[in-house]
Amino acid sequence: MIELYWKNATSEVVGEDHGVTESDIESVSPMIHKAMAAVSAQISAGRLGYAALPSGRPEYARQVKALVEKHKPDTTDLLVLGIGGSALGNIALQSALNPATYNMLSDSKRGGPRLFVLDNVDPALVGDTLALAMRKAKSLVVNVISKSGETAETAAQFMIVREMLKKKLGDGFAKRIVATTDMNKGTLHDIAVKDGYDMLPVPDDVGGRFSVLTPVGLFSAAMCGIDIDQLLAGAAAMKVRCENLDLRANPACVLAAVKYLMMKAKGKPMHVMMPYSNRLYYLADWYRQLWAESLGKRQARSGGEVFVGPTPIKALGATDQHSQVQLYREGPNDKFTQFVEVDEHPREVRVPDVFADIPGLSYLRKAKLGKLLNAEKQATEYAMAVSKRPSVTLRLDAITPHSVGEFIYLYEFTTSLMGELLDINPYDQPAVELGKKAAFALMGRDGYNDMAKEIRSFTRVDKKFLA
Ligand code: PA5
Repeated sequence: MIELYWKNATSEVVGEDHGVTESDIESVSPMIHKAMAAVSAQISAGRLGYAALPSGRPEYARQVKALVEKHKPDTTDLLVLGIGGSALGNIALQSALNPATYNMLSDSKRGGPRLFVLDNVDPALVGDTLALAMRKAKSLVVNVISKSGETAETAAQFMIVREMLKKKLGDGFAKRIVATTDMNKGTLHDIAVKDGYDMLPVPDDVGGRFSVLTPVGLFSAAMCGIDIDQLLAGAAAMKVRCENLDLRANPACVLAAVKYLMMKAKGKPMHVMMPYSNRLYYLADWYRQLWAESLGKRQARSGGEVFVGPTPIKALGATDQHSQVQLYREGPNDKFTQFVEVDEHPREVRVPDVFADIPGLSYLRKAKLGKLLNAEKQATEYAMAVSKRPSVTLRLDAITPHSVGEFIYLYEFTTSLMGELLDINPYDQPAVELGKKAAFALMGRDGYNDMAKEIRSFTRVDKKFLA
């Protein structure tokens, strides 16, 4: 079970200016109860699709498993094409639940095919990855993921990969593609139907960044040997905890209350997530998107402009102690840190019993690296606290599909509560749309001529400002 420890975010530890007081909690409680009521009502009305995923949509896991059973036996490589919410969850699950060396292991040692997730159109990344992946075209599965089916980056990658597969495999190419998209409409949907790909659904009522527990995230995870039932069971267990109306016993309520107070009352709009585990670093990346795209909003739902949103920052312990912590402790006191700590690391390594004659190294002799890493975390937590820098700790017994499922649901639900507290819609992303359209215009898509002209008036280089 994930535990949330929040004493170091209170005034008891970091003082009233920087930590939440009992009266802060009292004052925010009615808002939290109101937010809980609103989110629960949306869930009951079936308006928040993500909340139904842990236990209410077993058909998705069934469909995923059927395709895994079909493809896994003759697949050595899996290439995921997607971006944003259609890729970050896949990357987070794979890096949390499989070793960093997974792709380098032999076929017999891996739990499934090698996994490559192309979440950008950087030609070097795409070119290098495809040069490798296409060598095994006959045993490659391409999972193209796009909810809208219209995203330029994914469409471009897909056009390249489809053509390469066609050249290598002839008519059989379509058998090696799984399209995860809207089941009724969209360009990708139409191509998939015409070409005859296997298809998996992206539910209509689940937004991209909330979709990791749909076939978007589940297919690559299951292909790579991750227990998706346990992932969903973890999310379901957290869902029950998030329904608790006793604010202090509900980790989502505590997290939302502390984060809201940090932003609104303690001058801390920067919300750092710092796992002391390389495996969880990409989960911090996933959180960064969820938090930024959901909560960074101009319009209040009740009307008017608010320009709100905490800035999510990812950091890695202990690595960033040697990069960021100087700023976090002595720079502006505008940050709130969420440490993520793991009791039992997936693997342990011990320092050998050497250098007995060097006193300065004796503390490391025979030490477990897991103990050192966790000591570094506690040391940083302490160092931040004495500098009056508030933090909470999310503690995982171990990194398992269950605990990762818990983590995912906790942050999704907390995002919904924060949306209510900030009076904004956390489920749309209007500001991203302009950039998408502008890219269409610059690439010469029909109907975007006027926009292209306007963009050039901004981007044309004025030599006066060229240094
Ligand atoms: O969270 C979101 O909505 C976005 O990050 C989308 O996931 C991203 O833009 C990709 O969209 P699509 O799946 O439609 O290609």
